[in-house]
Amino acid sequence: DRYRDLVEHIHDLIGTHDLQGNILSINPAASKLLGMNHETIQKMNLRDLLIPEVRDQFEDYLAAIQKNGQASGLMYVQTANGGRRIWEYDNTLRLDSADGPIVRALARDVTERLQAENALRESEARYRDIFDGVQEAIFVESPDGRILEANQSACKIYGYTRAEFLAMNVTALVPEDYAVLTTEIGQISGPMETVNRRANGEVFPVEISGRVETINGEATLLVVVRDITERKQAEEKINLQLQRLSALKEIDRAISSNMDLHVSLDILLNQVLSQLGVDAASVLLLNTSDSLLEFAAGKGYRTPAIRQSRMRLGEGCAGQVGLERRVIHVPDLSLAGEQNQRAVLLKDEGFMQYFGVPLVAKGQLKGVLEVFQRSPLQPEAEWMHYLETLGGQAAIAIENAQMFEGLQQSNLELVTAYDATIAGWSHAMDLRDKETEGHTQRVTELTVQLAERMGLGARQVVHIRRGALLHDIGKLGVPDSILLKAGKLTDEEWAIMRRHPALAYEMLSPIAYLKPALDIPYCHHEKWDGTGYPRGLKGEEIPLAARIFAVVDVWDAVTSDRPYRAAWSKEKAFDYIRAESGKHFDPEVVEAFLGKFEQG
Ligand code: C2E
Ligand code: SIN
Ligand code: SIN
Ligand code: FE
Ligand code: FE
Repeated sequence: DRYRDLVEHIHDLIGTHDLQGNILSINPAASKLLGMNHETIQKMNLRDLLIPEVRDQFEDYLAAIQKNGQASGLMYVQTANGGRRIWEYDNTLRLDSADGPIVRALARDVTERLQAENALRESEARYRDIFDGVQEAIFVESPDGRILEANQSACKIYGYTRAEFLAMNVTALVPEDYAVLTTEIGQISGPMETVNRRANGEVFPVEISGRVETINGEATLLVVVRDITERKQAEEKINLQLQRLSALKEIDRAISSNMDLHVSLDILLNQVLSQLGVDAASVLLLNTSDSLLEFAAGKGYRTPAIRQSRMRLGEGCAGQVGLERRVIHVPDLSLAGEQNQRAVLLKDEGFMQYFGVPLVAKGQLKGVLEVFQRSPLQPEAEWMHYLETLGGQAAIAIENAQMFEGLQQSNLELVTAYDATIAGWSHAMDLRDKETEGHTQRVTELTVQLAERMGLGARQVVHIRRGALLHDIGKLGVPDSILLKAGKLTDEEWAIMRRHPALAYEMLSPIAYLKPALDIPYCHHEKWDGTGYPRGLKGEEIPLAARIFAVVDVWDAVTSDRPYRAAWSKEKAFDYIRAESGKHFDPEVVEAFLGKFEQG
């Protein structure tokens, strides 16, 4: 009874079946686990309890137990409502039974236990996947820096195996002079940027953060390291591009604010050297009259030999660059085998590489930009592009300077042409009024001298000279009958004669070039006391140039023969001018005029 009580109340399964699997006896735990009544189970074959997928293997089980007298393992059964359970069994064959051989079955339902184990395994695998799957290196370290765990990314980034890591201290990952990450318990530290060292010795930039956790009473440092090599390179690239852009801007500024080609090219070559990191660079200018490329500017040369550079289009590397208008790169000048003058010229420079860039502006070849390097250099596409951009800038600088030079030249030619025209006009006037011949030349020279004596600057004197030359141009509108009249003028004649300053104004004011020279032709008959014509200006209302000129004009008129009277003596003329000071003339001008003659 005690055994029966035990068997009936135990949670494990206890039963027997025959060699065909027919169930002979079973304890009540089975009907509870399977949700079937006891009688039903006792009429079943064990095979029918199995889930359909494994029923085929039942014969193997029977054969095994018959052969070995024992079998153990997992058995997958299904309950009345279709649920599935896993039983761990340990069954034995009994031959000594009264009813013939039977199998004694002992089993335990392990479904929950196995599920829990599986869940744990899965969660571990998942954690491992994450641990290994992140791109960052993750280390678990002891407080003294021993590496307790490292993920796959750590292996990839540093080049150590996990086993190697586990035998290492983190100090081995840190180059000398760099602090190892330390932090306090519970505190997150970082991210901080520093450098670490790979297994192959390469030092690389990293971003590190970490925190200390207490696991099972022991402080453990969890460190995450990100390899930021690419980010740093991208940053450097952006910085480089920014630098190159601002260099271009500086060159632009130099070109547009500067008409001296040598200053612009100097600034440009400085940027070529610093932005492209090359040893030497120069610009050769094309002289279009003889098709020669000639040195214009250079930087970074050891000897001044480069200044002798001078080659025909098509001759040497630079000549080829110019003729074919394409970039030429010679990776090794010593292999180029060129024994031309240029190669001899540059032999002391120790150059290895050569780049030549044609300088073309508005479709015209302006020259060649040459770049030399003494060490090997692997030019990237961007580098080449920038070199060509700088070449474009050089071409613009040259073209600008040449345009400015051309402009200055044509300006000069224009001024010369104008002044020749003015001289022609005033000469025509003198020819018409034969007896005043030479008057214009003389008053012009004397007025310029007096103006300079009175401290007027060169820029004003230029206009005073032109004004003096043209002072009586208005007389072109006065008929010969009046101009050349031997005696006194009638009132009508005098009215016409007095129009000559206003006529001059009408003739000359539309000419922009002569506008600043108008003061003398328009105002040379105004008088200091306001009694002059055409406007009756008074004192300093009269432009200084005209005040100066008036003295000289009257002096020369009265000391010359006129159709209407003979020349006066110098003394009489001086007396007259002195007497008119403050009336006809500005006293200061009279003083300067007389002072000039007293000095001789
Ligand atoms: P112009 O002969 O070149 O004389 C310029 C100015 O010198 C004159 O301006 C006047 O200020 C002064 N001047 C010239 N000759 C004498 C002179 O004999 N006595 C005095 N006190 N001053 C003299 P102005 O007076 O406005 O005359 C302007 C122009 O008119 C003269 O230029 C001349 O071409 C003409 N003109 C003036 N008076 C006569 C005249 O009596 N007969 C003729 N045919 N032309 C005259
Ligand atoms: C680490 O602590 O695992 C990385 C080494 C460092 O601190 O730089
Ligand atoms: C050059 O012509 O500038 C390069 C030197 C050479 O051709 O050997
Ligand atoms: Fe006049
Ligand atoms: Fe005159």
